[in-house]
Amino acid sequence: MSDSVRLDQTDQWQALRRHYEETRDQQLRELFAADPERGSRYALEAGDLYVDYSRNRVTDETLRLLRELAAARGVTELRDAMFAGEKINFTENRAVLHVALRAPRTATIEVDGENVVPAVHEVLDRMAQFADQVRSGEWTGFTGRPIRNVVNIGIGGSDLGPKMAYEALRTYSDRSRVFRFVSNVDGADLHEALRDLDPAETLFIVASKTFTTVETITNATSARQWLVSGLGDEAAVAKHFVAVSTNADQVAKFGIDTANMFGFWDWVGGRYSFDSAIGLSLVVALGPERFREMLDGFHQMDEHFRTAPPERNLPMLLGLLGVWYDDFYGAQTYAVLPYSHYLSRFTDYLQQLDMESNGKSVDRQGRPVEWETGPIVWGTPGTNGQHAYYQLLHQGTKLVPADLIGFANPIAELGDLAGQHDLLMANLFAQGQALAFGKTAEEVAAEGVPAEQVPHRTFRGNRPTNTILATELTPSVLGQLIALYEHKVFVQGAIWGINSFDQWGVELGKVLAKKLEPRLSGAEDTGDLDGSTASLVRRYRELRGR
Ligand code: F6P
Repeated sequence: MSDSVRLDQTDQWQALRRHYEETRDQQLRELFAADPERGSRYALEAGDLYVDYSRNRVTDETLRLLRELAAARGVTELRDAMFAGEKINFTENRAVLHVALRAPRTATIEVDGENVVPAVHEVLDRMAQFADQVRSGEWTGFTGRPIRNVVNIGIGGSDLGPKMAYEALRTYSDRSRVFRFVSNVDGADLHEALRDLDPAETLFIVASKTFTTVETITNATSARQWLVSGLGDEAAVAKHFVAVSTNADQVAKFGIDTANMFGFWDWVGGRYSFDSAIGLSLVVALGPERFREMLDGFHQMDEHFRTAPPERNLPMLLGLLGVWYDDFYGAQTYAVLPYSHYLSRFTDYLQQLDMESNGKSVDRQGRPVEWETGPIVWGTPGTNGQHAYYQLLHQGTKLVPADLIGFANPIAELGDLAGQHDLLMANLFAQGQALAFGKTAEEVAAEGVPAEQVPHRTFRGNRPTNTILATELTPSVLGQLIALYEHKVFVQGAIWGINSFDQWGVELGKVLAKKLEPRLSGAEDTGDLDGSTASLVRRYRELRGR
């Protein structure tokens, strides 16, 4: 494989290092002054997305060197291997085929010689049928009442995707029904979700790829108790619980009829799964047609990523820009700032996508990496962040590259409130402008600001952003956006030479929590624990009166 040479020892990396040393002090102001066309020249369009990347600290030469790095690291070869169903998640011996989840019915994508597309569509059809039954009132609860409330129980990839997409697309959802998402093992989450619901009208979707995740099984067990005690009959479970999983045995063991189970496959990673059956709650909320539009949006971006040449390939471009800041400028974090209230959960979703994928520190050969890998992803919707942490983005000591995301048209339902949209978007454009170009001391002084205050009111600028502008937040556009970030993360993992598809880093904490739980009740001794944990457990017991 092309990553057998260590990344930092490749000629392309060394060339980028030299280029960085030569250009690190270049100013966006100068780059724009030298090239009046930069704003339109450094823009790319794919599907409904327009990306302005002109406010990055790059030149044609930087981009060329970055593309050469991608070529040397075999990014397109790894991409093709993914699309071909090869087992590129080698630590788990699995294919990585979330792209098959949104492939059209007529496509052929094989894993171990078998075309997986028919099975994908068979599940999608069952999901559509089930959603139609719930939405029409044909599927009733145990007492014959229609389902008014849908509660998804899942965590991580079995929660963040549907929850984010439900928020994003709620104006397309069935407003007569209540949709809630429970993930935290803190009983407060389930309590708040159920406290005002009537069990006779409530459907639980238990979403778990493995069906062994302790949070999900614990919450599902408590939800079942709530339902059975509310309706007074164990038999009610069959009408109020459905499962989404790859593990039929565990689903049956839990007591859900596997006829009410919607399956998926081990080649779908948790954080890449919300367009599989994990999106069942979303299909009920939006209806099958809208869900289909979302899948088509994903597919559109998949095709762009698969076929566009590197210089016009959006995920490739965003991935390379991320590597530039992460590895050469030493940026530790990366902000995603959607100027859409409906995208309030978008960054939470991206945190798992990016940080669980690329939060790795050994390469594919198992050697410790000597370069930075995945960034810390954070952010909240604008304009709220402007009145909280943007101060640091503008005048702090840290370089925080950011994506600003906005939509040309407000969603139709806003009515008169759509009048606020220009103000929202003016803020988005202004922030990118201020971050890039700042305000010089001379400009500040020319406004008559007293000399001693000038340094405090000066903005150094030169802070990079991408602006992602889409027509409107539709199901298709959401699909395109998510696939853009999925493939961006892929590109970066390929360059860093890490496995972006496993997540062993979440295991240790799970195992330790399982061992510690009996100690908290006082049932087991703390003698063998490390000093800090032992004293915390003792203190906890005291506070609990144990
Ligand atoms: O946090 C680890 C993880 O395995 C995620 O990758 C996954 O999305 C989540 O747990 C939930 O897993 P499951 O769907 O099997 O319950």
